[in-house]
Amino acid sequence: GLRCVVTGAASGIGAAVAEQLTSQGASVTALDLKAPELPVERFVECDLANPVSIEEAVNQLGSGWDVLCNVAGVPGTAPAELVMKVNFLGHRHLIELFFDRMNKAGSIVSVASMAGFGWPLRLEKIHELLATDDFEAGLTWLRENPITGNAYNFSKEVLTVYVMTMGLALAERGLRINAVSPGPVETPILGDFEETMGKENLDGVRDLVGRHATPADIARIVVFLASSDSAWINGVSIGADGGIGGAILSGLV
Ligand code: NAI
Repeated sequence: GLRCVVTGAASGIGAAVAEQLTSQGASVTALDLKAPELPVERFVECDLANPVSIEEAVNQLGSGWDVLCNVAGVPGTAPAELVMKVNFLGHRHLIELFFDRMNKAGSIVSVASMAGFGWPLRLEKIHELLATDDFEAGLTWLRENPITGNAYNFSKEVLTVYVMTMGLALAERGLRINAVSPGPVETPILGDFEETMGKENLDGVRDLVGRHATPADIARIVVFLASSDSAWINGVSIGADGGIGGAILSGLV
């Protein structure tokens, strides 16, 4: 079976990813602040907001991995700097320390969000942040260039473009990287989205498509991108929102 690392495996979408991978015969090592309730092969404690913690975790992991699923994330109710650290800087730091430890034909999957769909409107800023070399340099850039508006949206925009540009860079090494960008999903952070989006807007989005996604809906796409069934998909973000994201962007709703 595939040897997989899953971040955020203690809750929500990450727990569903760990469950589905395990049920398909993969071995799952969970990276999270807290241990998952469901059984996994191994749990490594890691704070993705802290580069030293990420380095320590990667050193414990060793090599020979097939899959890295980056699911951990924090909502926009968290302080802006923490949002950028967990959702982008730490996420990138982990990928860049980890890919050398992956087997050929390995796959990296990152959970971004529909909240990142606006990336074309902020590409210049995004490229400036992506041009920073590491976690600390990224943090310095962020302190010098305060984000206008919602840090959560910016974190997911940057992540989306990062994944798109890394596709080709990793192809040289025989690896792939893709993102899944969900609309609202029934997990513990849905209440945070209610706070940041407004209850009416969140309910409105749900009513357009009849329900929110379940963690399993999103996990199935993550698992597909992790597997060789998606061998020719690389460097893209796949929306998984029941159709609302495209409709909102094109002004239909
Ligand atoms: P969740 O809150 O259920 O799970 C998040 C997991 O990440 C938790 O296990 C948590 O302990 C872990 N985590 C948080 N901060 C961490 C840190 N500093 N270091 C290590 N682990 C940390 O949330 P959910 O909904 O499963 O979210 C997973 C991903 O999906 C996130 O990246 C989120 O932004 C994204 N997403 C969620 C949507 C939703 O409506 N729930 C919609 C679109 C994207």
